[in-house]
Amino acid sequence: MAQRKIDVFDTTLRDGEQVPGASLNRDEKLHVAHQLASLGVDIIEAGFAASSPGDFAAVKMIAESVKGPVITALARAVESDIEAVAEAVKPAERPRIHMVLGTSKQHLDHKFRKSEDDILKMGVDAVKFARNLCPEIEYSTEDASRSDFDYLCRTLEAVIDAGASVVNIPDTVGYAVPEQWGELIRRIIETVPNIHKAKVSVHCHNDLGMATANSLAAIKAGAQQVECTMNGIGERAGNASLEEIVMAVKMRGEFYGAYTDIDTRQIYPTSVLVRERMHMPVQANKAIVGANAFSHSSGIHQDGVLKNRENYEIMTPEDVGIEQNEIILTARSGRHALRHRLELVGYTFSDEKREEFDHIYARFLNVADRKKEVLDTDLHDIMKGETVEVPEQYHLVDFQAVAGIQGTPMATVRLNVGGEVVQAAANGDGPVAAAFNAIDEITKLPSEIQNTSTTSVGKHGEQNVTINVGYHDQSYTGQASATDVVEASIRAYLNSLNKFVATHSGVVGE
Ligand code: KIV
Ligand code: ZN
Repeated sequence: MAQRKIDVFDTTLRDGEQVPGASLNRDEKLHVAHQLASLGVDIIEAGFAASSPGDFAAVKMIAESVKGPVITALARAVESDIEAVAEAVKPAERPRIHMVLGTSKQHLDHKFRKSEDDILKMGVDAVKFARNLCPEIEYSTEDASRSDFDYLCRTLEAVIDAGASVVNIPDTVGYAVPEQWGELIRRIIETVPNIHKAKVSVHCHNDLGMATANSLAAIKAGAQQVECTMNGIGERAGNASLEEIVMAVKMRGEFYGAYTDIDTRQIYPTSVLVRERMHMPVQANKAIVGANAFSHSSGIHQDGVLKNRENYEIMTPEDVGIEQNEIILTARSGRHALRHRLELVGYTFSDEKREEFDHIYARFLNVADRKKEVLDTDLHDIMKGETVEVPEQYHLVDFQAVAGIQGTPMATVRLNVGGEVVQAAANGDGPVAAAFNAIDEITKLPSEIQNTSTTSVGKHGEQNVTINVGYHDQSYTGQASATDVVEASIRAYLNSLNKFVATHSGVVGE
């Protein structure tokens, strides 16, 4: 069967970034975008340019410096949004405007309160307007899975005539099921007379856990572009996950008659970068990238794998870029271990570069002193010289916490505050909350915990805690690890506090 190339449209930085607590600053977005380019995605949706000046600037920066993929950003079908995207993506090698307008009766009646004809005209006018500003236009018929088929086809035909070269059919609410969804895509391709003038794309959400299956059914039915995110992050239950679609197409290429240009060995490094940067850990049994995805626990399976890996594995960890790495980087790691790990994440050092390596090792030790375990994302920061020391206005001296079911949890915390040791005790819903209350007693800062996540990493049970704390409407992310989860939480909380203080005293920029 002739093999069709499927374009991979990554929306981690737009649909994925809409998740609460997952937002990135401009440099972090750029870092992820460069990694997506190394992964080999065809299109990067870099943001929603009109949503804020920060997002506009991030999209523009990505368009200026990320080479290879098409760079796009989302716009509603209104001129100000379209102009913002056109301006932000203009510096890209291949810019694209992605616009969205609903087609379902639900959206027409209860969101826009307009007739089918009015909305169709609005879409067509918006495409014509955008076409004068950018050579490539993608048009998304939001909520397509709940739209009337004839109206959907009429819209697609009209926007293609107006100049859209990609038409995206979204299952915005994750309502579709694979057989029906595949059939819908097939019927659209058969029915819309000018469909050959545009690429057909799908964008599936995971509300019923079928986003990957629906995307694959669409590919089988003839879709040429698939929209997805790394680790499946995105609105509500998330988007179709890039790694699942790509590996399914790779492993079952003959069945789908298709292939992608993704460098699958970059999947795992990208997954780790996204989960760490966006504070979205993946579950252990997550397909392709979860901690258990390639581990075998039952005796029968272990015996089978030892006899021949293929007894229980359809792909190898190396296929998706998982290096079997037993070396954990800590403050006790030597130069050899650091050099080895740096090589695995893509940095090599010749003997002539010994002096440069010495500086990097010194920076590494600095980070390791604070973090217990140094992760791959830390290494990228170390290499870029981005390991900004946050001065510790509040330094943990000691704490004691009491937990239990019968009594009231309480904690005593001692902090060194600008050279003076201060102590406070407080109750709370648990030992962590009690410790946070004690810290608040000392600092008197008006803070609000927005999001906390904990992952257990490494063989020694280190707890890696990430916490987003709001101070005066700004969010600051604190991170710390320790084998005791209360200690890790206190340190993460203090880290966010110290960032806030440093930002307000002008020492560090957020
Ligand atoms: O889910 C959706 O419909 C979207 C569109 C913008 C494509 O994210
Ligand atoms: Zn979406």
